[in-house]
Amino acid sequence: MPKLPPVVRTLPALHRAIDKLRKRGAKVALVPTMGALHDGHLTLVRTAKRRGLKVIVSIFVNPTQFAPNEDFASYPRTMDTDLEKLAVEAADLVWAPTAAVMYPQGFATRILPDGPAVAGLEDKFRPHFFSGVATVVGKLFNQCRPDFAMFGEKDYQQLKVVTRLAQDLDMRLKVIGVTTVRERDGLALSSRNVYLSADERRAAPVLRRAMKDVAEKLRAGAELEPALADARAAIETAGFAIDYLEARHAETLAPLASIKDGPVRLLVAAKIGRTRLIDNMKA
Ligand code: PAJ
Repeated sequence: MPKLPPVVRTLPALHRAIDKLRKRGAKVALVPTMGALHDGHLTLVRTAKRRGLKVIVSIFVNPTQFAPNEDFASYPRTMDTDLEKLAVEAADLVWAPTAAVMYPQGFATRILPDGPAVAGLEDKFRPHFFSGVATVVGKLFNQCRPDFAMFGEKDYQQLKVVTRLAQDLDMRLKVIGVTTVRERDGLALSSRNVYLSADERRAAPVLRRAMKDVAEKLRAGAELEPALADARAAIETAGFAIDYLEARHAETLAPLASIKDGPVRLLVAAKIGRTRLIDNMKA
């Protein structure tokens, strides 16, 4: 069993540990997570390690990005197995603040992102979400002052929001997007997949399959709207209620009048039973 990475829970301990990591000029990458780690998260760690970086993984289930009706209380918390998985990847440090450390008494400042954060995708269905994400990610960036921050393409709108955030607030770090890790049947790995019943799990790959069909039709010269309509029908037939399935500009996330205005990204969010899944792909 490889040695567990050191875990720090206070800011002074974090700063001491980072000073030590940075000795001899090492560059540092931050991998922000909410724990319940799976191979998607671990791929972010591996990508940073492959670049020769020291890796800090933050584990914090951030209350401010959940609406009152969402799954904050039941969100999976698996710290012990998370640490074992991070030991295997040779992560260098785990930053696991408590809510009181992150949001002490009197905390009164929020980052309200614009641009990709108000594209009418996740923000339309989770209006709290991106201000919660931007605020906590802004804090994590300031706390850790990494040279790089790794984010998954799985949460594509979030990737665009945090990339803008780092640029707009002049943070000296580069945000790196990492390709989505999937199950063999195409379902994107997600901490929320554990909520799926066996039947729901069997239905879930339809999200990826339907987007792939759209991408193939567009490549063959089909019109966008009918291709999206067929995909929406396939997703609903499999038992999902769709929040959105859209083709957007891959960088700005702006709606597209025509795919000629691309590069195109297909993005989907849909609910099955009590589970809401999101996914996206290049078209
Ligand atoms: P969480 O859902 O734990 O995801 C942490 C990181 O892992 C995100 O960058 C996410 O895009 C990435 N990730 C998740 N599933 C992935 C997959 N299948 N393939 C590749 N990467 C994947 O996203 C959050 O936490 C939070 O919003 C956070 C940024 C930590 C702020 O609280």
